Amino acid sequence: MTDQSAPSITTTDSGAPAPSDDHSLTQGAQGPILLHDHYLIEKLAQFNRERVPERVVHAKGAGAFGELVITGDVSAYTRADFLQPGRRTDMLARFSTVAGEQGSPDTWRDPRGFALKFYTAEGNYDLVGNNTPVFFLQDPIKFPDFIRSQKRMPDSGLRDHHMQWDFWTLRPESAHQVTWLMGDRGIPASYRHMDGFGSHTYLWVNAVGERFFVKYHFKTNQGIRFLTQAEADELAGSAPDAHRQDLFAAIARGEHPSWSLEAQIMPYAEADAYRFNPFDLTKVWSQKEYPRIKIGTMTLNRNPDNFFAQIEQAAFAPSNFVPGVEPSPDKMLLGRIFAYADAHRYRVGANHAQLPVNAPKCPVRSYSKEGAMRFEFNAPDVPVYAPNSSGGPHADEATHGNPAGWDSAGGQLRAPYLKRRDDGDFVQAGTLCREVLDDDARRRLADNIIGHVSAGVREPVLGRVFAYWHNVDPELGKRVEEGVRARLG
Ligand code: HEM
Repeated sequence: MTDQSAPSITTTDSGAPAPSDDHSLTQGAQGPILLHDHYLIEKLAQFNRERVPERVVHAKGAGAFGELVITGDVSAYTRADFLQPGRRTDMLARFSTVAGEQGSPDTWRDPRGFALKFYTAEGNYDLVGNNTPVFFLQDPIKFPDFIRSQKRMPDSGLRDHHMQWDFWTLRPESAHQVTWLMGDRGIPASYRHMDGFGSHTYLWVNAVGERFFVKYHFKTNQGIRFLTQAEADELAGSAPDAHRQDLFAAIARGEHPSWSLEAQIMPYAEADAYRFNPFDLTKVWSQKEYPRIKIGTMTLNRNPDNFFAQIEQAAFAPSNFVPGVEPSPDKMLLGRIFAYADAHRYRVGANHAQLPVNAPKCPVRSYSKEGAMRFEFNAPDVPVYAPNSSGGPHADEATHGNPAGWDSAGGQLRAPYLKRRDDGDFVQAGTLCREVLDDDARRRLADNIIGHVSAGVREPVLGRVFAYWHNVDPELGKRVEEGVRARLG
């Protein structure tokens, strides 16, 4: 943080006393402004460069610092140091909407991002999830198309429900996530009142090299609350930053939101024969077969001192793993492992990991060097290459603990996941609708879909929308079709 101690005299960025906070240098009282007023030029030029590009998705968000305390014992499943009993780890959370831009209302219907950075003793571990346990897609190659269908039309710059439903109905693997999105969870009452999920399946490795697949759940201790479409629409006009405001105000008044960290664990050998693909991001695992185990509690207890430095420039990357946690063969996860660090190099810069909010709190001994804004460097006697004969850092597979990989990976190919018994696109969306939601929630789900579809969706997409919801659940499909037809007249 810049030193603001007394005496409080404004300086230039290079530390010399500034000539004036109020007046530019002119030739005479009415004369031209002079080019050698370098302080004026510093101020205007710096101002022009105040923004970094906004995140291409999840641009609007809010964040806070906190801690993760481990109260359970999962040492039999993972050797990750920060998950061992009794550990306390500093962390950062950023919550966000997905499709809207920086100034967009917090209460638009959208999944909410749930991005976490744990500053562990073995390096930063980032878990970049959402408030839903599943996602719209199974293959990262579709992500840019999917996002474009949620963003804006090329000519008018407007968002377009027709385009959204066109994509969703052409990609029926979206059905489970769209059912979540159109239901109550599509507009949480605040960032404090929603659950978070790692969503993907990850691989845990224990101290003796045994492997387990795992899914993370963060259950809100504030209780789940949501907004109706009408409440959300009202807030979008009257308080577009409502969720950012709510989080900041709650922490400022000492009401520290917390979440219970829980995990579903699948023994490695059970994955191959599971009745649907356990790496498919459009599916949840049965909680009867794989009950949630409590691991610890995450509490947010400190607001940022500077939104730009600590939240806007925060860089969360699914590639930030620590020993004991690895990716599963979920194709979406594997695609994301490339995408985020690449986005950070573009959005914040090649040396984004040096910024205090992104820097690990353990020693860094990498061979990375130079690039714009680099200020960390190795001692002059550390060689710039590895391996070397002069005692520079050397990688040790034992500390990384690389497991054998995935036995079922097979040869290289471009193909959908092989189908298993319960793999259908509509199976879990239908179960969610029939067995998880009650009558009221089902009615709100139908009303939300009807409202969304009636706002601009045309044939032939309309016919596909009816078939899509009929496939999820015939009763829901009938309600949607009747409701939309009544509205469109
Ligand atoms: C942000 C790509 C799927 C959650 C981002 C960003 C990119 C991206 C480029 C902006 C990063 C930045 O500028 O800092 C992708 C790709 C995906 C994908 C290529 C699929 C292949 C997902 C999924 C989830 C997710 C499945 C959740 C389960 C998030 C969150 C953020 C984000 C929470 C905001 C992180 C923050 O707060 O800074 N994504 N994404 N994304 N994504 Fe994804």
